Amino acid sequence: MLSSEQAKPLPYNDPAHWDKMVTAYEAQSQPFTTLFADAAVATLPIGPSSKVLDVATGTGAAALAAARTGAAVTAIDFSAGMVARVRAHGLPNIEARQMDGQALDLPDAAFDAAVSVFGVMLFPDWRAGLREMARVTRSGGSAAIAVWKSADGAAVHLLLSQIIRRLYPDNITPMPCTGLAELADPGRFAAAVIAAGFSEPVVAEITHDFKLNVANPGDVDKLFEFMPHWSGLDADKSAAVARTFRAEIDSRRVGDIFAIPSTALIATALRP
Ligand SMILES: C[S@@+](CC[C@H](N)C(=O)[O-])C[C@H]1O[C@@H](n2cnc3c(N)ncnc32)[C@H](O)[C@@H]1O
Repeated sequence: MLSSEQAKPLPYNDPAHWDKMVTAYEAQSQPFTTLFADAAVATLPIGPSSKVLDVATGTGAAALAAARTGAAVTAIDFSAGMVARVRAHGLPNIEARQMDGQALDLPDAAFDAAVSVFGVMLFPDWRAGLREMARVTRSGGSAAIAVWKSADGAAVHLLLSQIIRRLYPDNITPMPCTGLAELADPGRFAAAVIAAGFSEPVVAEITHDFKLNVANPGDVDKLFEFMPHWSGLDADKSAAVARTFRAEIDSRRVGDIFAIPSTALIATALRP
């Protein structure tokens, strides 16, 4: 069982983990995160003359949304695989670069707007991630940052954590991702955005269904393996949790689709 962030590096903080996930992420997660990325980008006053930074771009959900406004987009991620995927779109107004979001290799005040969708919240030093977004945003520029409204995240992770909490409350360790837990609260999120160097944060709540394809139960089980709470269970408990998960699916599925409502917080703020 994970007892702390230091006990075992989280998969989320290992670029090699994300390198392996590119194809699956693009197929299963990006259609879902795009719903939130589009909403985050829509809060930014950007257009063809704007320079926009997307921090922890993944397969490019927010970068692609910003690029559709005509803005010149810099998309960064610490995973070489993710960066290669964004480059492969071949869009002339997206430059994808491999970089750590906690220490951006970018000049001060270089961007009119900065966005991060489900990225900064995962960084071990998420405060540095937010400060770096503020540093590279020009005075008068703006930012949009999306996080989950639950310390348990979203989608399969959210439902799995709820089930484990119900069946084996002693097996839920303190959330190892401190940013995920801290920023899940609208008041604390707004305060963190201000502490990073932004002003006038407005935090909005938005919910979408994660549509899990449950046609093949074996595929669903495979999703558990990267989840910290799952790896803390012994064989008997993980079997019981998987049975409960499958029962929930069977009670609420519509055909091959099982919807998991997931709520995000999107903070929009200005750079003084
Ligand atoms: C949950 S995905 C979000 C991707 C995308 N923004 C989206 O909404 O679909 C998290 C991304 O953060 C990236 N990431 C994690 N830690 C990072 C860091 N320290 N610096 C840059 N990128 C990081 C991962 O490689 C991954 O692509």
